[in-house]
Amino acid sequence: MSTGQDIIDWYHQYGRRLPWRDTYDPYQIWIAEVILQQTRIEQGIKYFYRFIERFPSVAELAEAEQDEVLKYWEGLGYYSRARNLHAAAKQIQTEFEGSFPQHYTTLEKLKGVGPYTSRAIGSFAFGNNAGVIDGNVLRVVSRFLGDHSPINDVKTRKKFQQVVDEWVDGKDSRAFNHGMMDIGATICSPKKPACLICPLQASCVAFKDGLTHILPYKPKKLKRKARYLNFYLVSPEIKQVMIRQRDTEGLWGGLWEIPNEEVEQESWLSKKDPLGGTYQMEFKHVLTHLDLMIHVYKLESIPNRNWGKTSFIATEEIPNFAFSKAVLKIFDKTLY
Ligand code: ADE
Ligand code: SF4
Repeated sequence: MSTGQDIIDWYHQYGRRLPWRDTYDPYQIWIAEVILQQTRIEQGIKYFYRFIERFPSVAELAEAEQDEVLKYWEGLGYYSRARNLHAAAKQIQTEFEGSFPQHYTTLEKLKGVGPYTSRAIGSFAFGNNAGVIDGNVLRVVSRFLGDHSPINDVKTRKKFQQVVDEWVDGKDSRAFNHGMMDIGATICSPKKPACLICPLQASCVAFKDGLTHILPYKPKKLKRKARYLNFYLVSPEIKQVMIRQRDTEGLWGGLWEIPNEEVEQESWLSKKDPLGGTYQMEFKHVLTHLDLMIHVYKLESIPNRNWGKTSFIATEEIPNFAFSKAVLKIFDKTLY
C-alpha cells in the first residue's frame, strides 16, 4: 500500500461530509474555499449556503452589484476577497466564455486565485492530478517526514508540494486532498495529535521518534529593533557644514559624520526637533539587527550643545573625508 492510497482509504471510511463536497460545481467549490480561508467550518457553512442561494452561478455573481456582494461577505472580514470573487466572476464571463478553466495552471489567472485555491478547484471539481497544501497539510507532511525545515518558508512549501504531488499521483485526487485536509484538521492537530488513530502512523517519523511536539518547526520572527536619530546639518554660513569624527570602535568607526543624537521614538515621530531645526528629510538605514530611523534637520545657527570636537568644512571639501553611506545620502539630498 502507498501513503496516498492509505489516505484515500481512510477518507472513504472517516472523511467529513460537508456541503461543498457533495458537488463537482467549480463555482460552489470556489466560493466554499474562499469562505473557508476566512472562517471555521461551522460559520463557513452558513455563509456558503447564503451566498450560493443569492448568487447560484458565476453569471449571477458577475451581474450583481459589488455592494450586494460585499453585503453577503459582511462579518467575514478581508473584503478584498469578496471584491476579488466578484472581479474573477466577471473575468470568467469575459475571458473564459462563462465557464471555469479546468486546470489549476489556468485557474491561477483568475483574480485572487493563488496556488491553494487553484489546486483546490482543480482537484475537487475537475480531478486535476495535484496535491492541495494548506497550513494543516504542511503540518502533517513535516511530521510524517520528520522534516525540520522552517514551515513558513517558501522553499519548504515547494518541497512539501512535491511530496504530496507524488503521493496523489495517478490516484483519486479529490478523495486524497479531502483526506489530507481532514487528517490535518481533526487528527494531526497542533497540540495533541491523535497518532493512535492516524492512518499515517505506521510510517510517520514524528510518531516513531516522538517529535510531534517540536514539529512543524516554526522559527520565531525576530522583531527588528529600531532606533531613532536626528541628524543635523549645521550651516551657519552657506556652503559650510559642521562635521566630527567618530570613535574608532563600533558602528561607522573612524568615519566622519554630521552631528546626530538619539531621541525617543515619540519625539522622533512628532518631527519636532528639540533644537528647533528645519526638517529636511527622513529615511531608514538598515543594519543587520537594527533599523536606524533617521530625520535630518537644518540649523542656521550653532546650538548650545556639546558635540565633542567639531569643525566646519566647505561643502567642496566633502570628498576629502570618509563619510558613511547614510551621511553621504544626506549630503546628496540636501546640499546639492
Ligand atoms: N478547509 C478549507 N477547504 C476545506 C475543504 N474543502 N474541506 C474542509 N475544510 C476545508
Ligand atoms: Fe500526525 Fe501523528 Fe499521524 Fe504522524 S502519526 S501524521 S504525527 S497524527
